[in-house]
Amino acid sequence: MRASRFMVLLYASLIGVPILLYLRLISTLYGAYLVSDILLALSAVGLIIFGAIGFMEVYVHKAHKIADVSMQTNEPAMSASHAEMARRGTKIVNISVSRFDNESKSMRREAYRVEADKNTTVLGALLSIKSEKDPTLAIRYSCRMGICGSCGMVVNGKPALACETNVFEKMADGEITVEPMYGHPLLKDLVTDFDDFFERHISVQPGLHRADKAEKYSAKEPYKLSREDIDKFLPYSYCIMCGLCLDACPVVNSNPNFVGPQALSQVYRYHADKADQKGIKRLLEVDTLDGVWGCEFAGACSKVCPKGVDPAGAIQLLKGELMENVANEEKK
Ligand code: SF4
Ligand code: FES
Repeated sequence: MRASRFMVLLYASLIGVPILLYLRLISTLYGAYLVSDILLALSAVGLIIFGAIGFMEVYVHKAHKIADVSMQTNEPAMSASHAEMARRGTKIVNISVSRFDNESKSMRREAYRVEADKNTTVLGALLSIKSEKDPTLAIRYSCRMGICGSCGMVVNGKPALACETNVFEKMADGEITVEPMYGHPLLKDLVTDFDDFFERHISVQPGLHRADKAEKYSAKEPYKLSREDIDKFLPYSYCIMCGLCLDACPVVNSNPNFVGPQALSQVYRYHADKADQKGIKRLLEVDTLDGVWGCEFAGACSKVCPKGVDPAGAIQLLKGELMENVANEEKK
């Protein structure tokens, strides 16, 4: 742009100076010596400008050429990095992360660009943000393999374990958004408070109940269960207490007193265990509107459960058991 402006001035000087010299010749012929001197002076000024412009043009042009060369030398470097990413099978991923400061109660979104490959999980991407871009980002995690249940968050609007959520799969939905779980009190960024969740869990006394309490802690041999006996409760014992089902449950979100899908699935887990001796008492404790009868069978809990626990199914089985119990009582 700058070079073209110089070119215009250069051509103007090249045309202007000869015209001035021609006019000066005419005025000399007609005896107008003052005009002739002025035209000569203007021609001289024009020639100086011409020289200066020519000089600058040569050097500016050269400077631009140098810049062009340096841009060209950068280009292969950029292509090489793209080529390198292609070779490694990586892509740049845009991740929008919710940030929350509990002291100032301010919530904002931060956008990050992360290099990811086909195996990168959302937790992996967040950890690379934390280590390379922003160490203040708060995340809770431990095992990185779907066992500890501590990395639950909302990814693209759905509750999920960050360590089991693949970045490339989520990229198919467009940008990846990461938010803290909606149904738990927020502490900082992506970390929520699980006290309420654990209180619900403890409230149903999730553990083997034995009539002889002393025997429970001093049993001489393991309780004998057949494969069939184990299969009755095994799927419900896979719960890792990640809290995703509670987060997805529309009833918990409208009725905070509802015991919730996780705790109720554990009621069924122990009720179905032949070694448990609490019997009907365990069922009657949740035979309430805030217990099993609060469930509207939305099924969202089972959809988000990363371990296939199926809390919605467990609650329906509890309802069935309770109704059978009523029918048996009526028969007596
Ligand atoms: S039932 Fe599933 S979703 Fe709910 S806490 Fe247990 S593992 Fe998590
Ligand atoms: S880090 Fe343990 S379940 Fe995700």
